[in-house]
Amino acid sequence: RILVLDFGSQYAQLIARRVREQNVYCEIVRHDITPEQIKSHNPNGLILSGGPNSVYADGAPKCDPGIFEMGIPVLAICYGMQLLCESLGGKVESTPTREYGRATLKVIESDDIFEGFPAEDQVWMSHGDQVHQVSDDFIGLAKTETCPLAAVRHKSLPVYGLQFHPEVTHTPNGSVLLRNFLYKTCGCTGTWKLTDFADEMIASIRERVGDDRVICGLSGGVDSSVVAALLYKAIGPQLSCILVDNGLLRKNEADIVVEQFTNHFKTDLHVVDGKDRFLETLKGITEPQEKRRRIGHMFIDCFKSESESIDGVKFLAQGTLYPDVIESGAAPDGPAATIKLHHNVGGLPEELGFELIEPLRDLFKDEVRRLGIELGLPEHLVWRHPFPGPGLAVRCLGEVAEPKLKVLREADAIVIEEIMAAGLYRETSQLFAVLLPVQSVGVMGDARTYDNALVIRCVNTDDFMTADWTHLPYEVLGKMSTRIINEVNGINRVCYDISSKPPATIEWE
Ligand code: XMP
Repeated sequence: RILVLDFGSQYAQLIARRVREQNVYCEIVRHDITPEQIKSHNPNGLILSGGPNSVYADGAPKCDPGIFEMGIPVLAICYGMQLLCESLGGKVESTPTREYGRATLKVIESDDIFEGFPAEDQVWMSHGDQVHQVSDDFIGLAKTETCPLAAVRHKSLPVYGLQFHPEVTHTPNGSVLLRNFLYKTCGCTGTWKLTDFADEMIASIRERVGDDRVICGLSGGVDSSVVAALLYKAIGPQLSCILVDNGLLRKNEADIVVEQFTNHFKTDLHVVDGKDRFLETLKGITEPQEKRRRIGHMFIDCFKSESESIDGVKFLAQGTLYPDVIESGAAPDGPAATIKLHHNVGGLPEELGFELIEPLRDLFKDEVRRLGIELGLPEHLVWRHPFPGPGLAVRCLGEVAEPKLKVLREADAIVIEEIMAAGLYRETSQLFAVLLPVQSVGVMGDARTYDNALVIRCVNTDDFMTADWTHLPYEVLGKMSTRIINEVNGINRVCYDISSKPPATIEWE
């Protein structure tokens, strides 16, 4: 097993997931874990994550320097490397300009960890500080144009530091380095599987729930369906699912979900009509975090009032995924920055009234999809594009109101129809429309129009933590635009969003 010490990186779980991809069990622990605690886990190796701080900043998260000398292999990434080198006699300095993005790494010293890695290759950098000088105990293994110590190794201990991020897809051969570290340096054997995760999860849910009842918020997406499937396997008839029709769903979505659900699950389903309540609570609200907060609270209100009609409810199950947790700044031990309050994490009220069950909290979307297939869910459900809990509210910029939602629903249905007609649905990760609170002048027939602008957003991504905008064929974009302008009342201009994440996010709010 591997322990990842989390220093507040947006990528700590991504590291864990890359380790799982090599079939090695992995746990995330606090950065200040003691050498004794580490010993009790008996790990094959430690990975130190990056983090948003400078090692010299007040209150910067530190680790016990004793952990480097335990003889346990260490791979220290970015901030982790700076901490490692600084703790063992090196110097860290801020770079004149923050280095952010792709860089070319040149390997200058052969080493096991670089076996099978090209002599020169692209890596992803994201740092403001870097190691300027190392003690004589270290040797440099690789450099980039602006970073002479981009990879280092301790001369006598199995300890490595990498300034770049091997865990992100923008370091295409990062997995080679991780595999070398896990298999060669740590001696891992690679026998762990995702089904082991499902079995463990089912057993632990069964034990935790006992004879009580669980309600599960169902959205029709893959996450909540996988949660429902896991719970169904664990506790069968003690499960009730609740679909809240909040008026922020896609066109015909509530009907589609009910149909899918009744085809695949034989458990209790409650559909709550919350349209008026959601619209009322969003009236006059324009600030994105406040919208999310109110939606999160209203979901809970709906779950609470519905659960009054169900006997003995103690737990609420949700399909929260790791990216939701980390971007809400709510990881249990991580001082990570808040990007947005995901409605089912940061948007929850303090007084919840239920105990939460979130079995997918450590997983990424593609892992959840693989799990869904293993649990026997149908492919078309498992491969649906994700839809955020706060729904169309975060795609209807500014104040949310039914006439705008209607425009958005129609436009959204068109973009999805057209991507399917083009046979590109499975090749794209997420596609949707965003309604801007911006009007522009147009001409339709012979008349002047002054209508809203709409944005089409389409991205490709593995894990929704980073994403690239999709290079959709012009013909497909053209067809979407023509149909929207002709068929949707109130839109006279369609734009295509060509920003990646980061620095943008996938949703606009
Ligand atoms: P962002 O906009 O953060 O989106 O780059 C990443 C992925 O998460 C989805 N998303 C959410 N899902 N509750 C959810 O269940 C939320 O509050 C939420 N906000 C964003 C988004 O659609 C994308 O797939």
